[in-house]
Amino acid sequence: MAVYQVKIPACTFAGEGSIEKVKDIVEKEQAKTALVFTDQGIKNAGILDCLTEELDKLGIVYHVTDDLKAEPAYTDVEKAVEESSAFACDLIFAIGGGSVMDAAKLFSVLKGADYTLRDLLKDPSQARKRIKTVMIPTTCGTGAEATCNAIVAIPEEQSKKGIVNDSMIPDYVILDSQMIRKLPKSIVAATGVDALAHVVECYTSKKATPLSDTYALAGAKLIFRNIQAAYENPDDMEAKNKMLLGAYYGGIAITGSGTTAVHALSYPLGGKYHIPHGVSNAILFAHVMDFNRSACETELAELCDEVYPELSGKSVGEKSCYIIQKIAEIVKTTNIPTDLSQFGITAEDLDFLVEAGSQQTRLLVNNKRELSKDDIREIYKKVL
Ligand SMILES: NC(=O)c1ccc[n+]([C@@H]2O[C@H](COP(=O)([O-])OP(=O)(O)OC[C@H]3O[C@@H](n4cnc5c(N)ncnc54)[C@H](O)[C@@H]3O)[C@@H](O)[C@H]2O)c1
Ligand SMILES: [Zn+2]
Repeated sequence: MAVYQVKIPACTFAGEGSIEKVKDIVEKEQAKTALVFTDQGIKNAGILDCLTEELDKLGIVYHVTDDLKAEPAYTDVEKAVEESSAFACDLIFAIGGGSVMDAAKLFSVLKGADYTLRDLLKDPSQARKRIKTVMIPTTCGTGAEATCNAIVAIPEEQSKKGIVNDSMIPDYVILDSQMIRKLPKSIVAATGVDALAHVVECYTSKKATPLSDTYALAGAKLIFRNIQAAYENPDDMEAKNKMLLGAYYGGIAITGSGTTAVHALSYPLGGKYHIPHGVSNAILFAHVMDFNRSACETELAELCDEVYPELSGKSVGEKSCYIIQKIAEIVKTTNIPTDLSQFGITAEDLDFLVEAGSQQTRLLVNNKRELSKDDIREIYKKVL
């Protein structure tokens, strides 16, 4: 009998206003000092204040590390870890998107450790949690608040790499929709489609299990049905709540299953051309699923049954096509770029992309339909 698992953060608070649960966490952990990871975008949007106001009320001593770059290189994270290490901290808070949360997760296993980030890039198995973490996502996409992964760019390889270790599983999560109320529409769209890619890829992955499927299906229902409303109306807090939940479920699904060729082929686009993670996934998403359809028609139809039960009378083939068509429609109607032309990528870049994409074996092995280098080339060609 197969054994399977998902990993879930020990304690999750959700709902508008749940930021006030910071008090319960600090008291439970008896924390006297804390480190807060964030970035300038979040600080300028006034969102950091929502956390620091809570910490001020509690009289806890904290330091804010706020100069993290979006989609950081491992060298950026090394710098942040070094600078932050001087400060005492009983608890780590990350308030931000995947970039901030991943840096904080790495810090939680690196502070005072006798291994370095470079060591973890070579052998992530040595990582051990040293300080507990509290994740407060401010985008509705990565699900990084639920995963054991931290993704960094590797400039010398012009790509990105995931460091995966169970000890990076966050301890506390706060899913407060107020954090994404003023999230710029373009980021709602791109991060929302990233979350959609997580659930669809996890459900159609070779590694999918009944446990990961439960989260992937629940996430798919929430995201497919709410992404457009969350994009169109910033004050639709019900849709925003559901997007945060859906993204979180996507993260849990990743811990038990894994993403596939969409994310694999997306990494070189982020690593070399600095296309935001959600955007590069969105550009590839429908094309990769179209390529995959013959190998996961049933799973795509099951996703359709869950999200669009009104299509129950249709055939498996029709339902699987419908889901892919919906993905393309969501990308188009939320105004995410649908090809690589505006990023200056041309046919001359194809050789690099094919080579770098085919090296993402950690994720490509999860894809139900095997991709040859020619297949990879054909997919990139479609989005030029
Ligand atoms: N660890 C994981 O499991 C996992 C999964 C998927 C992706 N990732 C990684 O996460 C990173 C992408 O994260 P992301 O898509 O959440 O974006 P991000 O963290 O890179 O943030 C994108 C931009 O949005 C701004 N921003 C964030 N929240 C805001 C808000 N509420 N209001 C205004 N501006 C705001 C930030 O300042 C930043 O400039 C990538 O490096 C990707 O590889 C990690
Ligand atoms: Zn992703």
